[in-house]
Amino acid sequence: MSTKNNQILLKLLNKYKLSSNDKEHILSIIIDIYNHDEFQKRLTNEFPHHDTVTLGEHILEVTIVTYLLSKKKKKDYDINTSLNIAMMHDLYTLPWQNNPSADVDKFINKHGFRHPIEAVINALTWYSELFTSLEKSKVIIDGIIHHMYPFPVTSFTDNGEGLELKNYNYVKNISNINKELLVWSSNRFSVGGISICPSKYNEGRVMSMADKIVSISNLKHSGFNSTIALITGKNKKLEKLK
Ligand SMILES: [Fe+2]
Ligand SMILES: [Fe+2]
Repeated sequence: MSTKNNQILLKLLNKYKLSSNDKEHILSIIIDIYNHDEFQKRLTNEFPHHDTVTLGEHILEVTIVTYLLSKKKKKDYDINTSLNIAMMHDLYTLPWQNNPSADVDKFINKHGFRHPIEAVINALTWYSELFTSLEKSKVIIDGIIHHMYPFPVTSFTDNGEGLELKNYNYVKNISNINKELLVWSSNRFSVGGISICPSKYNEGRVMSMADKIVSISNLKHSGFNSTIALITGKNKKLEKLK
């Protein structure tokens, strides 16, 4: 864990003018996910998201906005689960900028469609301790899978065969029950290899709303090329900068 990354986290917490209690509450929920090497890596230039914003910063900002939206929710709402979904929703394997699919004709393999599947597989691999209860696993997996709604997500079947998953090697280590949940969630309202529906659970829907709020406010600064790149994985603007 680097001091620079901690400063980024602090800066984001201050941006939303959170009270000390709120800051402590958020940290108590996210700290284990945050401290993981894979998360720390996403706060570096290795993982650009939009222009000067790293993927890790995007994820942290979505998590803070998820927290603010979650505070308004009533009893049957699990804020811990909602923040866990936020922290893991974009933990795909490779930086998406200029990382188009090899099979360009197969739209289900484009970054925008497949990255929630990769994120679930990585989450199950790096944070297995969060997936010990069936009920919680269901809510977390379904929240990550459908976070892009109304954008579609690739359906996972047959152990991911035919999908261009960048973390395909992890699939064999996932337990059958979690694999079944991945199949169940990514095949809800599925047509032609993609699923289009919001998360079945409030915790996921709130997180998805937070993702839109943060993404739209960032896209205002980075423009149309970034929007298109989110789908194709190819950012012409970034190529020119190189
Ligand atoms: Fe995403
Ligand atoms: Fe996101």
